[in-house]
Amino acid sequence: MFISNSVEETIAAGRSYARIARQGDVFALTGDLGAGKTQFVKGFVAGLESRAEVTSPTFVLVHEYGDGRLPVYHFDFYRLDNSEAVLRIGFDDYVFGEGVSLIEWADRYSDLIPKEAKWLSFELKGENTRVIREGKPQ
Ligand SMILES: Nc1ncnc2c1ncn2[C@@H]1O[C@H](COP(=O)(O)OP(=O)(O)O)[C@@H](O)[C@H]1O
Ligand SMILES: [Mg+2]
Repeated sequence: MFISNSVEETIAAGRSYARIARQGDVFALTGDLGAGKTQFVKGFVAGLESRAEVTSPTFVLVHEYGDGRLPVYHFDFYRLDNSEAVLRIGFDDYVFGEGVSLIEWADRYSDLIPKEAKWLSFELKGENTRVIREGKPQ
């Protein structure tokens, strides 16, 4: 468990996960809106020495950041009404592919998430405090 008291600390947490990330890793991120998932991805992408600007893939299904140590595939299931669209763009090819996948709101379609994925939950605990825990929420 990690308690973050600022955006910068959440970004730093993302950076430290990136340091040990390997090809094929999948990070399944859960937690309410504003819990810090996208900020974590921002830190993660920066930690792979990518200069890409990270925003939530809200109107497209995936953002790819290809200029770092490993390619990153960034998904967000929040506005996904069913899993067909994401399967159609080859979701499995991404998660079993060459890069690292990070999936916000992964619990909305947890059937799609590979067994080996690392689950991280983000919890809001006040204005600037967030609790980050490893493991799949119940
Ligand atoms: N400790 C913190 N960690 C991450 N974000 C924080 C923190 N404290 C405040 N915030 C704010 O909370 C929001 C988190 O947004 P975001 O990362 O997009 O959340 P999510 O992707 O989970 O919906 C941002 O507006 C950020 O400035
Ligand atoms: Mg987000």
